[in-house]
Amino acid sequence: MVSSTSYRVEPYTPRHTSWPYSPSDFTRQDSSPDTSFYTSPRFVTHIDDAAIVSLREYYDSVLPRKGKILDFCSSWVSHYPPSIEQAVQRGELQVTGMGMNKAELDANALLNNGHIATSLPETSPSAKLDASTCVVSIDYLTSPVAALTSLRTATKSSGTVHLVISNRCFPTKAMSRWLRVDENERLQMVGDYLHFAGWKGIEIVEVSDGKATQEKGQEASGGLFGWMGMGGSDPLWVVRARNEIE
Ligand SMILES: C[S@@+](CC[C@H](N)C(=O)[O-])C[C@H]1O[C@@H](n2cnc3c(N)ncnc32)[C@H](O)[C@@H]1O
Repeated sequence: MVSSTSYRVEPYTPRHTSWPYSPSDFTRQDSSPDTSFYTSPRFVTHIDDAAIVSLREYYDSVLPRKGKILDFCSSWVSHYPPSIEQAVQRGELQVTGMGMNKAELDANALLNNGHIATSLPETSPSAKLDASTCVVSIDYLTSPVAALTSLRTATKSSGTVHLVISNRCFPTKAMSRWLRVDENERLQMVGDYLHFAGWKGIEIVEVSDGKATQEKGQEASGGLFGWMGMGGSDPLWVVRARNEIE
């Protein structure tokens, strides 16, 4: 799919002929409305500085410079590289953000249009997406296949989705299976989400193994609980796919 030769890329192979998860896998410790949890803005970063550098490099190698990108589960920062910011400034690229906190989205200078949304857009064919991104948030969605199916129908044929995963989360809001399984199983499970949502060319990309020797900047201070990789920088993977159906 997208070119990025410097990363370790593993093709996802479908493991199940029918949906393997039960509703209890998607329950959460805190079942109160997400709107309550996200009422107050969090002007923090949810991955550390070394992981942000790695993510910007990855995005630089895969995101389009023209057309439309959606950053869903967005916040005050999307971690896009300067090349994307410049394309937005030239008016050649439109970046839409969807998230749960208006103050955070308003503060995200990259977004042409940031709006509150708990479900993904049903865009008209003329407004279809070239790519979408989602950073350390897929674990909060209780109906990920519905969301990713909706996203696919809003995406151009050959458009891509990039689901960025690390090892931190708000544990009370993550779906329960996420907390029970190991890192590899989380990546495979996200591959399953994309597969059952009809995405093709699903791949798991190791963007950073978390062993970066760069001096760690400020601790990822988003209140996210990290339970692996302590002592190094935050590891980073992307589970990505493309749409083959118009
Ligand atoms: C850990 S934050 C990550 C924010 C952002 N991607 C970043 O890296 O800074 C999780 C995000 O998931 C989004 N989110 C959580 N539950 C959601 C839901 N039910 N529907 C839509 N978005 C949700 C919120 O917007 C929240 O900002």
